[in-house]
Formats: sequence, structure tokens, C-alpha cells
Amino acid sequence: MGRPTPHAGTAEHASAAPRPFSEGESARIRADFPLLGRTVRGGRPLVYLDSGATSQKPRVVLDAEREFYERHNAAVHRGAHQLAEEATEAFEDARETVAGFLGADAGEVVFTKNGTEGLNLLAYAFSNAAAPGALDGVDEDWAARLRLGPGDEVVVTEMEHHANLVRGRSCAAAPAPRCAGSG
Ligand SMILES: Cc1ncc(COP(=O)(O)O)c(C=O)c1O
Repeated sequence: MGRPTPHAGTAEHASAAPRPFSEGESARIRADFPLLGRTVRGGRPLVYLDSGATSQKPRVVLDAEREFYERHNAAVHRGAHQLAEEATEAFEDARETVAGFLGADAGEVVFTKNGTEGLNLLAYAFSNAAAPGALDGVDEDWAARLRLGPGDEVVVTEMEHHANLVRGRSCAAAPAPRCAGSG
């Protein structure tokens, strides 16, 4: 798809000046997404702006998903047979690929089924971090950054999606020391 994306957090990423796609580039990117080939009411070409809710999938993703379900589908990390091994390998390869894209270690990448679940997990981890003993063995600098306590603030913007606002509020409303703050 068009230009390679510099890895987030790298100097290349920080210095990459954004510029609009040319018409040719836009057309090539659109062509990657079969769904964008259809028209909507009145025969107009589809412009899709609801990616925060559900993203459209490029052909390479659709092909990979079909190939997985037709050839390798099995329980990841929960089976000893060949298909489970293949599914697990594909899953862990994807984790490595995502980690490389983010400039993270594979062990830092957690897959969740959507943004809401990811944010819930994060809020839950923060609230658990305040429990006695929860961070035993964790480097103290890191532990201090993870522990929320009275006086800490959970900052969200007024543009936040409901899923994130609810999380921030419930985290802030929980009694200390499990989770405290204001948002
Ligand atoms: C703008 C926006 N942000 C976030 C979400 C939540 O996304 P997810 O389904 O990944 O939890 C939605 C869901 O509709 C959304 O529309």
C-alpha cells in the first residue's frame, strides 16, 4: 500500500512531514479495499469515515483470513495437534510483526478483540496495581508509574468515545486504594 510507514517512535517517524496523497496514490489505496469498489445511495462512490467503529479490510487481510480459516483454523495455545501448532505459530508471528511495526518487544503486545476491551484491560490493570503486593518484583520506578492513588487524575478529552469515558469514570469512582483519581 503506497508509502512505507516509518515505525512509530523512530526518528524517521518523527521527522516524516505529512503530505496529501496524490490522486494516483488514493486510487491505488482504494483498490486495496474491495468494499470501496461498491456504490451507495444514488450510485455514488463510497467514502467510508467510520473506521473508529469498524475498519474496512484490505484484500491482503481478507485473503489471509480466508487462508487461515480454510487451512489452519484451530485453538491457539490450547491444542497439541498440527493445526493448533500452525494456528499458534501464525498468531505469534503476527505478534512479532505488530511489535516490529510499533517498535515494541513482542512480550509487550497484547491482542484484544476491540478498543473497548483494550481500554478496559488497561483500566483494570491500573486499578489492580494499587492492590497490596500486586507489583512485588516490579522495578520501583515502573511500579510508581502504574499505581494510581488519591490525588491522581484520569485525563480524558470531551471528544472521547463513550467506551473510554465510562472506563475513566468508573476507574475514578472506585474507592482507594483499588483505584482512585478524578476524571
Ligand atoms: C469513534 C469510536 N471510537 C471507539 C469505538 C469503540 O470501538 P471498539 O468497538 O473497538 O471497542 C467506537 C465504536 O463504535 C467508535 O465509533
